[in-house]
Amino acid sequence: MSDVPHRNGPCWCGSGKKYKHCQLTHDQEDQTLNRSFRPQPILRSEQFIEGMRRSCRLAKSTLGMIEKEIKAGITTDHINELVHQFTLDNGALPATLNYHGYPKSCCTSLNEVVCHGIPSERVLEEGDIINVDVTCILDGFYGDTNKTFFVGEVSKEARRVTEIAYHCLELGIAAVKPYGHIGDIGHAIQVYAHDQGCSVVEQFVGHGISRKFHEEPQVPHFGRPGQGQVILPGMFFTIEPMINLGRKGVRILRDNWTAVTIDGQLSAQFEHTLYVSPEGVEVLTA
Ligand code: MF3
Ligand code: CO
Ligand code: CO
Repeated sequence: MSDVPHRNGPCWCGSGKKYKHCQLTHDQEDQTLNRSFRPQPILRSEQFIEGMRRSCRLAKSTLGMIEKEIKAGITTDHINELVHQFTLDNGALPATLNYHGYPKSCCTSLNEVVCHGIPSERVLEEGDIINVDVTCILDGFYGDTNKTFFVGEVSKEARRVTEIAYHCLELGIAAVKPYGHIGDIGHAIQVYAHDQGCSVVEQFVGHGISRKFHEEPQVPHFGRPGQGQVILPGMFFTIEPMINLGRKGVRILRDNWTAVTIDGQLSAQFEHTLYVSPEGVEVLTA
């Protein structure tokens, strides 16, 4: 390591504590044992973790509220209004509203829409699949989750891609191990999706999240085991695989947001926010 932190300077781990009161002893141990690098856990206070738990709990209950409202005949704008009001009523803000110019309080992505569909006058019809993605900011902490819903009875293919996307998220979560690698996650997802004859969108990835919407690490839904960043205790990130029935390619519509499959075939997605504890993983939006 070229940058030796000063004893009284801020710790390199981002805890805000002085280095001598934080990671210094671990680093000294490394030196004694002649280890040049050992991945260090990210220290998080109990208030910080609890803040993330509360925000994620709200995001999860927002989706729970929406689930009961999904039916043919309502507009995606109506979903947006419900999400917006519910978020405010619970003392939080919708994170997507005005985020890089995004105009609404959630994303509603129907059928061939991969992600970032903008709520509109579009009326839900029997047979649609619709992903609703909600992110709230509660006391400065971000909670991010999404789910694909069926509108009434849907086709066998629609059911299939949705179930595969859901299982991809489960497999991704199961691959998260403290001191494992980010690549383990994408690998688990990709192997299963391809096995089922589906493709994995590469253009959008999961992301670190806590007091910012999108931060390090990036979490691709494809990859190789043992590759990518080391998964550290103290990390918060999302896993949110987008699974396509056809090709993996996407294109962005003229509204500069809506991502659709290049071949017009169906796409489905599920998302959770996770906390990596020293012992394992906590799914905060489950
Ligand atoms: N919630 C999305 C995610 O999972 C991000 C939406 S950003 C928006 O990362 F601006 F499109 F809303
Ligand atoms: Co996300
Ligand atoms: Co999201």
